[in-house]
Amino acid sequence: MTACIVGWAHSKFGKLDGETSESLIVKVATEAIAHAGIEPRDVDVIYVGNMNGGFVKQEFHSSLPLQAHPDLRFKPSTRVENACATGSAAIHMGLNSLAAKKARFVLVVGVEKMTELNSAQAGDVLIKASYVAEEAEIEAGFAGIFGKITATYFQRYGDKSDALARIAVKAHRNGARNPYAHFQREFEYGFCRNPSDKNPFVAGPLKRTDCSPVTDGAAAVILADTDTALGMKQAIAFRAAEHVNDFLPMSKRDIIQFDGPTLAWKQALESARLDLLDLSFVETHDCFTSAELIEYEAMGLAPRGHGERAILEGWVERDGKLPVNISGGLKAKGHPVGATGVSMHVMSCLQLAGTAGGMQLPTAKLAGIFNMGGAAVANYVSILEPVK
Ligand code: COA
Repeated sequence: MTACIVGWAHSKFGKLDGETSESLIVKVATEAIAHAGIEPRDVDVIYVGNMNGGFVKQEFHSSLPLQAHPDLRFKPSTRVENACATGSAAIHMGLNSLAAKKARFVLVVGVEKMTELNSAQAGDVLIKASYVAEEAEIEAGFAGIFGKITATYFQRYGDKSDALARIAVKAHRNGARNPYAHFQREFEYGFCRNPSDKNPFVAGPLKRTDCSPVTDGAAAVILADTDTALGMKQAIAFRAAEHVNDFLPMSKRDIIQFDGPTLAWKQALESARLDLLDLSFVETHDCFTSAELIEYEAMGLAPRGHGERAILEGWVERDGKLPVNISGGLKAKGHPVGATGVSMHVMSCLQLAGTAGGMQLPTAKLAGIFNMGGAAVANYVSILEPVK
């Protein structure tokens, strides 16, 4: 690959009363430019990842980063959308601009302000990322889609509620170390495992603690070509950046195979000439705990139907053979959909740069990132490595 991340910024994730998508964009854009050590006038191209204008009245977002500094006025800027993989899609657009030599420095911002709506209203907006002609009537918004996927998985391979509860516990334990996380507290296994007033069923076998929350937040990166990046104060290179889209209707696929994520991982590892276990850690798209479970299989960590071993045998814990979602993942860190893909890259950069504070792993040399839009529809894998 020929591109690097040379600067980054991340807002607090959570219910951010008093912030707007504009204020969040301006904050992370300003901080990422400063972190890269460049001037606003050095930015050649801007991409804004924002999934769905349905959460806020302000749908047209592309020029909002220009509010960060007068020197950004007249820069070409475009809003990018690819469901919950919007953030990675925006990064890919930036990589394309660099590859085409249309830019030396690209500013990529991911943002979503979701909490102006209550959970049910947010669900109505999120369900638009399904195949509406067949799937829009499924109850409980996008949780309903994953409730169906989880029930199908349980039918084929047996009830995996123990594993799902363990994944939730791991996420919250890791999130407790992450100052940017929506939830910075641990959850007991018994609480996550058993339905209760505070942890009701939301959709099919999924309880509240199996779901990512409705979250506000933003993240930004500055991308540069590698020659330029090597002259900067920090540079995290893309060893791979792969994108695979699958059919949208779930009826056209064996939905628990996650064929798109599997192919994206295969292509990324082949392109980086790495084995999965060469990676120091993975940030994966745990919009629901069952998504993380199936993703263990898609990335090649466990055979089909055996994903539970990865969590029950501790492989994916902080001290396991492949730590997964050290940041707390979408489950605990939060999932402001348009920001998530950019956030995953920032969390990985913090680890690879050795600046992750209380989250820091002792060894962080290679990061794998999987960001997913829809139900395994838009699939992005990045592999990152620090070169400076
Ligand atoms: N995990 C754990 N706790 C959660 C939570 C979650 N996902 N969401 C909310 N809570 C907690 C709140 O902090 C609050 O705790 P408190 O009583 O101690 O203050 C309590 O649960 C009630 O919060 P509320 O927002 O009223 O819950 P809700 O039932 O309306 O919403 C979900 C919960 C799971 C339905 C909602 O978060 C949701 O829809 N998530 C899925 C979002 C989604 O589909 N994203 C896209 C994925 S592709």
